[in-house]
Amino acid sequence: MKTQVAIIGGGPSGLLLSQLLNRAGVETVVLERSSREHVLERIRAGVLEWGTVEMLREAGVGDRMDAEGMPHEGCVLSDDDMMVRINFKELTGRSVMVYGQTEVTADLYKAQDAMGTTIVHSVEDVVIHDATTDAPYVEYTLDGTRHRLDCSYVAGCDGFHGVSRKTIPEQKRREFERVYPFGWLGILSRTPPAHHEIVYANSSNGFALVSMRNAQLSRYYVQVPLTDKVEDWSDDRFWERLKSCLPTEVAQSMVTGPSIEKSIAPLRSYVNEPLRWGRLFLVGDATHIVPPTGAKGLNLAVSDVYYLHHALIDAVKKSDETGIDAYSDRALARIWKAMRFSWQMTTMLHRFDGEDSFAEQMRKATLLHLSQSETARRDLAENYIGLPF
Ligand code: APR
Ligand code: PHB
Repeated sequence: MKTQVAIIGGGPSGLLLSQLLNRAGVETVVLERSSREHVLERIRAGVLEWGTVEMLREAGVGDRMDAEGMPHEGCVLSDDDMMVRINFKELTGRSVMVYGQTEVTADLYKAQDAMGTTIVHSVEDVVIHDATTDAPYVEYTLDGTRHRLDCSYVAGCDGFHGVSRKTIPEQKRREFERVYPFGWLGILSRTPPAHHEIVYANSSNGFALVSMRNAQLSRYYVQVPLTDKVEDWSDDRFWERLKSCLPTEVAQSMVTGPSIEKSIAPLRSYVNEPLRWGRLFLVGDATHIVPPTGAKGLNLAVSDVYYLHHALIDAVKKSDETGIDAYSDRALARIWKAMRFSWQMTTMLHRFDGEDSFAEQMRKATLLHLSQSETARRDLAENYIGLPF
């Protein structure tokens, strides 16, 4: 097989890149390790920055998002009973869209099918060869048979545990990491959300988040120690903890019910750089991870795709390599700013085990300052709705 751009990974990064390239007349083949059903079962975050919303529309996958997604003009940060509303619309003129990443992925698959692009599922043992030459190729196994895919460029969109990043020799890259000493236990429940906007709740009992997928489907999280297992958390225990973290006003509106999904995710900040090795380009979770406080994961993947798709179109169509030469630096400049914001939100809102009394006062003072300073709120809003591409 032969193609112009081989894309490793059929998550949101790989699918959006494939969608934008094919619309511009650049051929791709997507190689995905899992089945489509498995990719579509994963529950991930649900906040789209405005730039992401516009990119999805431009990619021709915005219709269902515009019909079913919920534009949010603000969110709430709280400290015990003190609630601070961040009015995105007033402070920045923009909103965010609450629409699940799972739905974005489903819309992308549908659009790719309609265009007749090639997505190969259930591939095993993907190996990227000759990335530093002008004739790279990818080998993979499908149904027990080894295949070869020749290409001009390779996009590594295969998430944190993929092969693409590891293909780059260790001495050619640098890693930066911060692991946080807690995780998020998340549940999905067919109940009306406790608040009409997202609430990031800091409290003496730890952090909790109120979010939603629609008016009848809530998504909640509570901070848990890394040693906890999902089995340790009955629904009753979850609801009780959630209630103890939320401001009274929000807790009173909480409607409990059975969870339909429950999982624990560790929190980490991670950056690998550079994002390029010869003709191999890294995108999304394959090269950076943010903690979910601030919902930047998917949005950062989308800005990488924004830079890379323009760069690859210029390289393939016009033999102009200035875009691919600049890709890593351009993407990293935005990645590091989102890293800073996600780290700051995480530090501002969570209780760290064994922390001293000073740390708690710093969190409280930050929230108090936000409640009193429009400048501080505007800074948060500007980062939350998404910095320009
Ligand atoms: N070969 C082929 N495919 C692979 C391989 C491999 N060796 N390893 C992983 N994959 C696939 C995974 O099965 C997955 O479907 O690559 C895909 C990567 O998808 P994600 O992990 O979702 O990463 P990405 O597409 O960059 O999405 C960005 O935003 O909200 C965040 O972390 C969240 O997934 C989200 C991310
Ligand atoms: C979610 O809805 O799952 C969600 C919302 C906001 C976040 C993280 C996750 O910061």
